[in-house]
Formats: sequence, C-alpha cells, structure tokens
Amino acid sequence: MIQVAILGHGVVGSGVAEILIHHGERAQRAVKTDLNIKYILDLREFDHLPYREKFTKDFEQIVNDPEVRVVAEVMGGLHPAYDFVKRCLLAGKSVVTSNKELVAAKGAELIRIAAQKNVNFLFEASVGGGIPILRPMVQCLAANDITEVCGILNGTTNFILNKMVVENMDFDKALQLAQQNGYAEKDPTADIEGHDACRKICILATLAFGRHVFPEQVDTHGIASVTKEDAEAADRFGFALKLIGRAAKLPDGTITASVRPTFVSRERILSGVDGVFNAVSVTGDETGEVLFYGKGAGKEATASAVVADIFDCVKHLDSRKYLFWEEGYEGYVNNQTDEEGQWYVRASSPRYSDLLARFEEQFGNAPTVFKNEYRGEIEWLTAREKASVIREKLASLQDISTVKIFDTMF
Ligand code: HSE
Repeated sequence: MIQVAILGHGVVGSGVAEILIHHGERAQRAVKTDLNIKYILDLREFDHLPYREKFTKDFEQIVNDPEVRVVAEVMGGLHPAYDFVKRCLLAGKSVVTSNKELVAAKGAELIRIAAQKNVNFLFEASVGGGIPILRPMVQCLAANDITEVCGILNGTTNFILNKMVVENMDFDKALQLAQQNGYAEKDPTADIEGHDACRKICILATLAFGRHVFPEQVDTHGIASVTKEDAEAADRFGFALKLIGRAAKLPDGTITASVRPTFVSRERILSGVDGVFNAVSVTGDETGEVLFYGKGAGKEATASAVVADIFDCVKHLDSRKYLFWEEGYEGYVNNQTDEEGQWYVRASSPRYSDLLARFEEQFGNAPTVFKNEYRGEIEWLTAREKASVIREKLASLQDISTVKIFDTMF
C-alpha cells in the first residue's frame, strides 16, 4: 500500500481524489499495488464528503510524514505551491503537478532538486489537460530533432471563441459558462490575456528544444481585443480564429516563441479544434507533423493526467524517470526575426477614397481583398512579405482610424 497526499481540493484535486477513491482497481491494474490517500490539504471545510477524515489544513503534517511517498500538487498559482513542492521534494517525496505556472517559472530548479533526492517530479497535466503530450513528445519522439511545436493550448479561450462565433453568445456569458464548467483559472485574466497558453508553450518549448524558456521571453497576446467581427472576417477569408501558442527552432540554435490570436487555414486540422478541446502539433525531422488532440481543461480530463503521473511515480519509487533540460539564457528566445509571412489586415478611414488609393499603391499585389465602402473599410490578406515591410507600408496609409492585424497559419 502506497500513501499519497493531495494538495488542494478544487476542480482538479477533487477529480484526483474521486478517481483514486472510486476506482482503486485502476491502481492495482497499473502498478500492482493499492494506493491510499492519507491527506488532502485544503483550508476549506468539506464535512459533507464521505472522505472528510482525510482533510487537513496543516502542510507540516504531510511533509513530515515519512509514509507519504507521492504528493499531487493541484492548488495552482505560484505561492504557496512552489514552497510546498520544493519542501516535499527535499523531504524525498515524488511530486506530480498540474500547475503550469509553477513548472514554467520554477521547473528547472524543481527537476534539479528531484534529481538530487532521487525522486520524480512529473507534470503531464500541466499542458493539454487530459491529452498525453509531454511524455509522448519526450519519449516517443526522442529519435527526432523537433523543429516546431504549436497549437491550441487554452480550453477557456477556445471555448469562448467558439461560443461567440457559433452561438452568437457575448463574451461575458461565454466566460461565465467556461467558469461554471471548471475550465477557467481562478483569475480568468490568465486565460483571456494569454498567460496560461504562454506558460504551456514555455513547458512545451523547454522539453522540445532542451533549454528552459521563461514566460517573460514569450511574445504573448490574448483574446481581450478580439471581436466577433474578427472571427467573421476569418471565416470570410477561409480561416478559423484561434489563440495559437507556437515555438520554433531557428538555424542559429535560438528559438522563437509566441502566443497570438491567429487566422488558421481551414485546410489545417487545428482549425476544426473547437470548444474546450486543445490540440498540439509537434514537427519532428523524422516523423513530420504529429498531432495530439483531446480535452484541454476540466475536472476529469485533467485529473486523469495527474493520476497517471501518480501511478508513474509509484512505478518508479526507487528509480528516476529521465527528464532533464539546460538552463535558459536571456537571448535564447529571439522574437525579433523578420520572418516572411502573410497577414490579415483590416483598416478603415473617414477618407475612404484616399485610403483606397494608398492601398492600391502599397498593397496592390494582395491576393484577397474585400472592400466595404459603407463602413469605409478595406480588409485584405497580404502577399508573402517580411513583417517590417508590411509595417512600413501600413504606416504610409494615412488617416487610418482603425487597423486590425492577425497572423495567419497555413
Ligand atoms: N484554464 C486552463 C484552460 C485550464 O482553460 O485551458 C487547463 O490548463
């Protein structure tokens, strides 16, 4: 019998407890031993639950109990989770977590401590909810040099965009629904502003390219300024509007990393990933593109990944799973590359005829253009050009009252 502790009994923590308590036979099946939840740490009262005797408010009780071999941290946030996880590892306990903020900020340090203590620190649930992505990427694609990893990494924003477009729901109502379903972070601005997807692309890029990527290094934009008009425009041009996290290797060994609302071509499978579903595309030099798809948020899906990590820790109680990466450094993420690409642009002006004339001068070669004289607006897909050139050309369109620009992904 292996003793386990759970830190946090929120959406994910309660899912973990329920799987372990109601489906004990799955532990037997997976690791040939029984698991027992000895403690659940939470400051709230859960007197109505049949397993109420497991609750404690005292972390010291857990960290000082040598019987506890595996701890699941599912509290979220950096503090006190960082301190708790570090202390559990230092006390010789394996730790699993769904906490992407923690892994993205402190993963390198925590994995080092785990190695020193000969225990495991696993975090499959931190990216893609229930989708197996980190383990397959690190283990099953190990024979590849990974050149790019990208995808839809936040269930809340994907759910909101979908509700806004398909059901004509307004933003606030869609967000409320995402919160009710247990998809959103405690503070949903982390979802909306792209920080959650940023943390996940950091973890993916770190594992894919072997060097730590910090959230501050990622060019991050959320969906706060995205409107229904933008989503409709995407549709008109043959795209779907998605929040895309992307990291790619550059020839000099540095990488690019970004989170941006993006027009994704309807030709790509990613464009059809809707609602709470996430998809992660990994491109290896041997395999080409490999796509991982499934529920990216929610109680059961995320708990499934946490429990699988608990099982893995139990299987490897006396050995370590090999997981390692190098330190990051300041210039490692280079988002200043002036890459060629195609952009969607929408501009309007009270002096529409001038705008039209200027547009013809500068963007006459644009492959797809829609003009709306009534709104004084032009929208177009640029030809393939360097970002700096597009910016210069846009600067020369005088008297623009609004301009919207989106990356495209073909
Ligand atoms: N808030 C996150 C999301 C939860 O919406 O994807 C899963 O990490």
